[in-house]
Amino acid sequence: MFEKILDEFSTPFYLYHEETIIAKSKLLKNLNLNFSHKFHFAVKANPNLAILNLLHRQDFGAEVVSAGELFKSLKAGIEPSQIIFDGPGKTEFDLKYAITQQIKSINVENLEELNFINEYSLSKGLKTSIGLRLNPNIDADTLEKITTGKSGGKFGISEDQINFDKILEMNGLQLSTLSVHIGSQIVDHQKLIQSYEYLILLADQLNKKNHSIINLDFGGGFGVIDNSDETLDFDQWKKELEKLLKNKKYHIIFEPGRFIVADSGELLTKVLYIKKSGNRTIIITDASFSEYIRPALYDIKPPIQTLNNSNELKSYDVAGGICESTDYLAKNINLPEVKVGDYLKFTNVGAYGSSMSSTYNSRPRPLEVLMGKNEYRVIRSRDTLEDLCKNEIM
Ligand code: LLP
Repeated sequence: MFEKILDEFSTPFYLYHEETIIAKSKLLKNLNLNFSHKFHFAVKANPNLAILNLLHRQDFGAEVVSAGELFKSLKAGIEPSQIIFDGPGKTEFDLKYAITQQIKSINVENLEELNFINEYSLSKGLKTSIGLRLNPNIDADTLEKITTGKSGGKFGISEDQINFDKILEMNGLQLSTLSVHIGSQIVDHQKLIQSYEYLILLADQLNKKNHSIINLDFGGGFGVIDNSDETLDFDQWKKELEKLLKNKKYHIIFEPGRFIVADSGELLTKVLYIKKSGNRTIIITDASFSEYIRPALYDIKPPIQTLNNSNELKSYDVAGGICESTDYLAKNINLPEVKVGDYLKFTNVGAYGSSMSSTYNSRPRPLEVLMGKNEYRVIRSRDTLEDLCKNEIM
C-alpha cells in the first residue's frame, strides 16, 4: 500500500499510521491506573479533524489553547464537558467562546483572566468551572526551548500571587481544578512526579480552607525522543503516582500530545538537487522548514530514512528550498548514497509537524494521508494556489 501512496501523491506530504495512534492510546489505557482519570489529547500536537475524531473514538477528551482548537475539537465530536482550555494569552474572544460552551475547565494563568471570566459569566447567568495553572518552579530536564515549569518563564502563575479567599467570593466561577505542565519530551519520571506532588499538596491545603478542588490536571510531556529509544519509565511513574494518590479522591487529568501521535507520522519528500559546497554535500529536498520547523527551531535531529537500496554511507546536510540559511532539516548525517529523484522519509513527525507548518515563501501547506490496516485516505488536501490568496484583497 505504501508504494501505491507514494505513486499517487506528489511530495511533500504527511503520512500517518492509524494503527500506531491506536496502539499508543491503548498503551496508556492499559496502564490500568487505579484512580479516577481521563486523557485529554493536546490538540496542538496534531489538530487534523480525522485525528481528533479518531482519538475521540478512543475515548480521549481534548486540551485546547485557542478558539480555533476548541472549534475543531467540538467539530470532531468531543463534548464540551471533555475539553480543557489552557494557554498564557487567551483573548477575550477565546474566553467568551469557552465560557458559553461551558467546557470542563478554563485553566487560568493570569490574574486579570479571573475578573474577566467572573464578570462575563455573571452577565450571561453562568457559573464557569475554572482551574489555576501553577508555576511550580521545576526544571523538567528537557530541551531549554520546551521547558515550561520554571520561575521566570511566562507559563503558569506562582502560588504567592493568588488571593484564594477572593476567588471564593466570585460567584461567576467555581475553582475546581489545579494544573501544572512543566514541559515536553520528558523522560525523567521523577520530574513529573515532583510536579504532581506539589499540586496534590496545594489542593489538600486549599480544600482544608473551604475550597472544592476536585480535579488535578497533571499536563502532558511524556517523552518521545528523536533518534533515541529513551522513554519514560511508565512502570515506575505509575507506581509512584499511585502511591501519591492513595487515599485521595481527586479526578486526574492528563494532557499528552506528542506521546500519542509523534511516531505515527512520516514526512515524505523528494530529493530535488544535490550540490557540493566547500567540503559539504547538500541534499536539497522539496520539504523545508515551512513543512517541518522543529529541526530549525529546536535543533532536534529527526530520524531520516532513504528508500533506495544503496549500502554505501555518505555524509550529507539536508536542506529545504526556503531562502533562509536556517532552513536545514539535518546536518552532518550519514545516509546511504542518495541520488536526485530519490525519496527521503522523516519519521517521528506526527506531533508538531504539520501543526507547526506554515505557508512561508508562499508554499502551499502539505497534503496529509491517514493509512489504516486495509485502506488509506486523504485527511487534508494540499493548499491550492488560490488558497494562498484567500483572505487577501487586491
Ligand atoms: N498541556 C499543556 C498545557 C501544554 O502546553 C502542552 C504543550 C501539552 C499539554 C502537551 O505536551 P506534549 O505531551 O505534547 O509534550 N512544539 C514543541 C512542544 C511545545 C508544546 C507546548 N505545550 C515541540 O515540537 O516539541
